[in-house]
Amino acid sequence: MPIEIPLRCETASTWGSWQTLLRLYDDSTGAPQGGLSLKHSATTSEDRILTYIDGFDSKISGGVRKGHVVLLAGTPGTMKSSIALNLLYNNVRKNDLSALYVSIEESKESLLEGMDRLGFGDIDENKFFIVDIGKLRLEHTDADIGRDWFKILKEYLRKKVENEGVELIVIDSLTAVYSLTHIQSPRQELFHFFGFLKRLGVTTFLISETQQNGSAFGPFHEDYLADGTILLKFVDVGESDVQLRIRAVKMRHSKIHHGYLTLIFRDGQFMATPPIAE
Ligand SMILES: Nc1ncnc2c1ncn2[C@@H]1O[C@H](COP(=O)(O)OP(=O)(O)O)[C@@H](O)[C@H]1O
Ligand SMILES: [Mg+2]
Repeated sequence: MPIEIPLRCETASTWGSWQTLLRLYDDSTGAPQGGLSLKHSATTSEDRILTYIDGFDSKISGGVRKGHVVLLAGTPGTMKSSIALNLLYNNVRKNDLSALYVSIEESKESLLEGMDRLGFGDIDENKFFIVDIGKLRLEHTDADIGRDWFKILKEYLRKKVENEGVELIVIDSLTAVYSLTHIQSPRQELFHFFGFLKRLGVTTFLISETQQNGSAFGPFHEDYLADGTILLKFVDVGESDVQLRIRAVKMRHSKIHHGYLTLIFRDGQFMATPPIAE
C-alpha cells in the first residue's frame, strides 16, 4: 500500500522530517509486498542479480538483491553506461532474464554501436529492449512531454513489465530525466518514483551523473531512497596515470566490503581487483 505523505522538507531546517519520511519509506518498501511478484530464474544465487564484474559480486554477498533499486553513480566517463549494459547483456544471455535499458540522452543506434565495440554483440531483441528518448516521445504523443516525465516513464515501465515480462531495468540517466523538465518537489517526486519501482517488483539500476565537486551520489539524496549505491570514480596514480575505482557504498540485505577496488575492462570482461599500493 503506497503511503501518500506530502513532503515539505526542501530546506536544512526540515531535514529531520525528511529523515523520518525516509524511515517510513524503508518500512513500507523494505520487503516487496503485493504488486507484481518477483520472478526467480537460474542465477547462481536465486535471489541475486549478478553484476558480472569479476571480483565485485563476491564483495556484495553475491550480487544485488532482486527487487532492489540501486544507484550507479559517478562522474562522466567512469563507465557507468558500459557497466549497466554489461550487466543486462550477461543476465539476458546467461540467466534468460528480460531486460530494458532506457536511454535518455543517447540514441539506440549509438548504444548498439557502443555495445558492439565492447564486444556485446548478437542481442536477442525479444529479451533485451533498448528504448531511447525519441521512441518514448513517439509513443507518448498525447502526453505532456514538457512537464511530467516521471509519469511517462512510470507508464512505460509498467507496460513493459506487464506485457513483456521485463525483470531488469536500467535508466540512463536519472540526472537526464531531471534535466528534461522542471520538477517542483524533487524529493516528493523521487520518493514516489522509487516506491513505484519497488512495487513493480523488478530490479532497477538508476544511473546518476555526478559532478566533480558536487554531491557524490546525486542532487536530491537519492542514496537515502535507494536500496544500494555503487560509486565509480577516477583516481590519480602517480604523475601521469589515472585509474578507475569502484566501491559498494550501501547494499541493503547484503554484507559488503566497503573499500575501493580497481576496475578494469579487458577482452569483454569487467574485473575488480584490490588496488595495488601506490
Ligand atoms: N576497454 C575499455 N577500457 C577503458 N575504457 C574504455 C574501454 N572501452 C571504452 N572505454 C571508454 O570509457 C568511456 C566511458 O564509458 P561510458 O560507459 O560511456 O561512461 P559513462 O556512462 O560513465 O559516462 C568511453 O568514452 C570509452 O572511451
Ligand atoms: Mg553514460
